[in-house]
Amino acid sequence: MTDNIESILDEQRLFEPPASFAASARLKPADLQALHDEAANDYQGFWAARAREALIWDRPFTTVLDDSNAPNYAWFSDGELNVSANCLDVHLAERGDKTAIIFEGEAGDRRTLSYRELTAEVSRFANALKEQGAVAGDRIVIYMPMVPEAVIAMQACARIGAVHSVVFGGFSATALRDRINDAGAKIVITADGGRRGGGIVELKQATDTAVGDDCRTIEKVIVLKRTGHEVNMTSGRDIWWHDAVAGVSDECAPLPVNAEHPLFLLYTSGSTGKPKGIQHASAGYLLHAKLTNQWVFDLNDNDVFWCTADVGWITGHSYVAYGPLAAGATIVMYEGGPVYPDAGRFWKICEELGVTVFYTAPTALRALMKFGDDFPNQYDLSKIRLLGTVGEPINPEAWMWYHTVIGKERCPIVDTWWQTETGGIMMTPVPGVTATKPGSCTQALPGIIMDIVDDNGNPVEAEGGGYLVIRKPWPSMLRTIWGDNARYIETYWEKFQNRYYVAGDSAHRDKDGYFWIMGRIDDVVNVSGHRLGTMEVESALVAHPRVVEAAVVSRPHEIKGESIFAYVVFRGDRPVGDEADTLTRELRDWVGEQVGSIAKPDDIRFTDNLPKTRSGKIMRRLLRAIARGEEITQDTSTLENEAILDQLRGLA
Ligand code: WTA
Repeated sequence: MTDNIESILDEQRLFEPPASFAASARLKPADLQALHDEAANDYQGFWAARAREALIWDRPFTTVLDDSNAPNYAWFSDGELNVSANCLDVHLAERGDKTAIIFEGEAGDRRTLSYRELTAEVSRFANALKEQGAVAGDRIVIYMPMVPEAVIAMQACARIGAVHSVVFGGFSATALRDRINDAGAKIVITADGGRRGGGIVELKQATDTAVGDDCRTIEKVIVLKRTGHEVNMTSGRDIWWHDAVAGVSDECAPLPVNAEHPLFLLYTSGSTGKPKGIQHASAGYLLHAKLTNQWVFDLNDNDVFWCTADVGWITGHSYVAYGPLAAGATIVMYEGGPVYPDAGRFWKICEELGVTVFYTAPTALRALMKFGDDFPNQYDLSKIRLLGTVGEPINPEAWMWYHTVIGKERCPIVDTWWQTETGGIMMTPVPGVTATKPGSCTQALPGIIMDIVDDNGNPVEAEGGGYLVIRKPWPSMLRTIWGDNARYIETYWEKFQNRYYVAGDSAHRDKDGYFWIMGRIDDVVNVSGHRLGTMEVESALVAHPRVVEAAVVSRPHEIKGESIFAYVVFRGDRPVGDEADTLTRELRDWVGEQVGSIAKPDDIRFTDNLPKTRSGKIMRRLLRAIARGEEITQDTSTLENEAILDQLRGLA
């Protein structure tokens, strides 16, 4: 990462929006300027106007921002609407027969759903959920493959005011159980399995383990038949999706809910061992999701938008399940892995489904780039007109590859910075307007006030680095951490006495006022664009009966961006040689079971003890330097056992 940041800091190239793109873009320079001016003159008026234009209200709001409980802000809080109605029903008159979803399974199976069909499926499943006992406010966990039913389930929850919490299908049974328990969920919606990388992801099996153990809240498990392979069904608790919808009406009036009604929880990693349930509200979230699909992805009626994110992540919420539908777009959903059966799969899908706007993660680009240009060059990518990235800083080399090999130098690249907590894109180039620099997310969108401040909360002038903060509340911000408002305040607000939202990233600004993200300032690691807390992995490791202590740090990784490096103290003699190899494998699988495959450490080093300061704190900076093969600049004379350094370096 250090190397990337250094090369990023030297980056001088500037790419103006291609004239052909700019000419027909939704937002022209004057439009963008007008929006910025409007927000600068009347912040609340700006957001109120957007909310009235973009959303259909069952009951119009009169209050815009309620800051009486700051930093628990509320937006449009006396208004009522339904999110699903705003994504589906609003389109029926004008574009009911337009394709909403084009789905491709990993095995090559395809299916399309028009807005009318999708509305009917969502309504039918919403009725089925009600029949299974779901009522507004209930938490429903969704643990599904990337198939249309995942979006149908999310939209159905929204339609009846139930609060979904999607758990990424790659998470383990243990991780699923923790999230179910924390949310107090009543229903799990899952599938017999999903197809990925030529194999089957055993979702139902993991659900059985999660729900079977000590889960007191789950009453029903709804199971989509996707793979058709044999799974256990527990009678009284489990019901097949197709049985749940059989004979059920496909009309379900959307339930108007308060603007602040929670739309969903989404768990994400923080600095402690326990993931946080980020809680989003209905109206503000949808507003920003819709606007950014129009402003940033420039979606028009002829576009085919493919955001490759899984619905288990926030990107799959805002740029698959909600935003593009609210904007009336056609979206692509793909079930499987990017290199199945070969590294041309993404590009083949782009050609065959006519993708015009493509949004993915730098880690995917780096992985695909390694396979060479022949794969993308085999396919006709001429329909693509706009490219985007999200999840981590993109290194200029990957940016240039995206620009030349995929975009053929005619597509703007939008490098979008945002977080689970922000609900939607905060900083990004506006494709027809902003000149881009490889590796910079450029500047904030209208109505979003980003800044960089020092330890005392004072703005850092150009070139200096500091804490990335957001100066004013915005409609799609998280509302709280589910069940733990104190943690919400402590994590995001306390540092600067509730004045700014603290993103947890460090950043710097260049002479043109462009933002460059330098990385996390907390103990969060970004592995393949996915956030993991080092504490979470440490907790998983020490949960192993033979592990006494563990310390986890990150190191740069060519494809994943960062990878996990664990130092482990074992009970009994320190394992060496073959034994160490066997135990490394065992521990990696163990972490996979406790958290999920993405959390498996790439490196594990066994040591007799961990380096600590006199006050007993683990010397993480030292461990990080060793993991990165950097020179040790720290004073190590306080170490009880200096010989430990050789063990940590793997030399003894
Ligand atoms: C990082 C993903 C640099 C950042 C939407 C942030 C980025 C975290 C970018 C949020 C970007 C996301 N450039 N870094 N364009 N986008 N990040 O919650 O550290 O999974 O805080 O949301 O990813 O990750 P999350």
